[in-house]
Amino acid sequence: MTAELQGKVAVITGGASGIGRAVVECFLAEGARVVVGDIDDVAGEKLKQELGDDVQFQRTDVRRADDIEALVASAVSAFGKLDIMVNNAGAVGEPTGLLDLDPDGFSRTCDLLLRSVVLGHTYAGRQMRLQGTGGSIVSLSSIAGIQGGFAAPSYDAAKAAVIQVARTATSELAQYGIRSNVVLPGMTRTPIMARGTKLDPALYEDFVEALREPFAEFHPLGRGGDPRDIANAVLYLASDRSSFVTGQYLIVDGGLTSVFSRDLGEVVGKAFEIMGVDDIDPRFGSAARLK
Ligand SMILES: NC(=O)c1ccc[n+]([C@@H]2O[C@H](COP(=O)([O-])OP(=O)(O)OC[C@H]3O[C@@H](n4cnc5c(N)ncnc54)[C@H](O)[C@@H]3O)[C@@H](O)[C@H]2O)c1
Repeated sequence: MTAELQGKVAVITGGASGIGRAVVECFLAEGARVVVGDIDDVAGEKLKQELGDDVQFQRTDVRRADDIEALVASAVSAFGKLDIMVNNAGAVGEPTGLLDLDPDGFSRTCDLLLRSVVLGHTYAGRQMRLQGTGGSIVSLSSIAGIQGGFAAPSYDAAKAAVIQVARTATSELAQYGIRSNVVLPGMTRTPIMARGTKLDPALYEDFVEALREPFAEFHPLGRGGDPRDIANAVLYLASDRSSFVTGQYLIVDGGLTSVFSRDLGEVVGKAFEIMGVDDIDPRFGSAARLK
């Protein structure tokens, strides 16, 4: 079978860790050449050493427009063109709730998670239009972009807006053959939730391993997400296999957002209990009850 991305050139932001790193490895295995833009230059240089000449690393802060523009230009200068842009870099951002919101923290989170994605479309889209060969832009949102309770409001709002960016991009960029789609990961085992805590970065790998058990219990499929699960979805949207798909989002969450996390039979049973009726077996629970 031919490699899915043979001859393609991709830019991946936040490619030095977690989901981004899995996307880099997946794209390389499928024949692409890749430029990684990440703020972590130590991890970025290490990645380049480990993965070889088909990967370039450029230190990039996606909160800076100039950096994103330079990142796209570096792919063209290293490999001659740009076919795929993956807007992936991110962090949990401002943790405050709505009632005690830090307005500057909200803006910083939007710069990191939303403005960066918009600018990724701007600079990658200009290059793709110039080439006249179309292209694919894939952006990372989150299940927190469609459902409350997973993250803080700044993160939720920015990730929700990322979904709309793909729709608005479609109305402008489809005429040039440029597609834009979004992946919504569920709980995926990466260091993202340890960053910014006191945990020594040397222990991030242990943290990712330790997430296995607590994540498993929430998911109908019985496990949390592996970064490669998300990379496979990004691969589909980046490759020509999805050539008629644009403006869409793909949820990759092991079923997490598809089921009610409690057993409704138990909830309704409580009402019978309160009424003192104990001989009714409520039959409203999901067939796929979470243990
Ligand atoms: N892990 C999850 O459960 C999960 C769930 C839903 C969505 N996501 C999203 O997936 C994406 C990747 O997250 P991850 O879990 O792999 O996290 P991660 O922490 O493992 O990796 C994030 C990468 O982004 C880089 N980065 C952070 N700020 C940057 C900046 N300003 N400029 C450039 N690079 C920067 C980091 O250095 C790191 O290499 C994020 O957008 C995240 O919001 C993750």
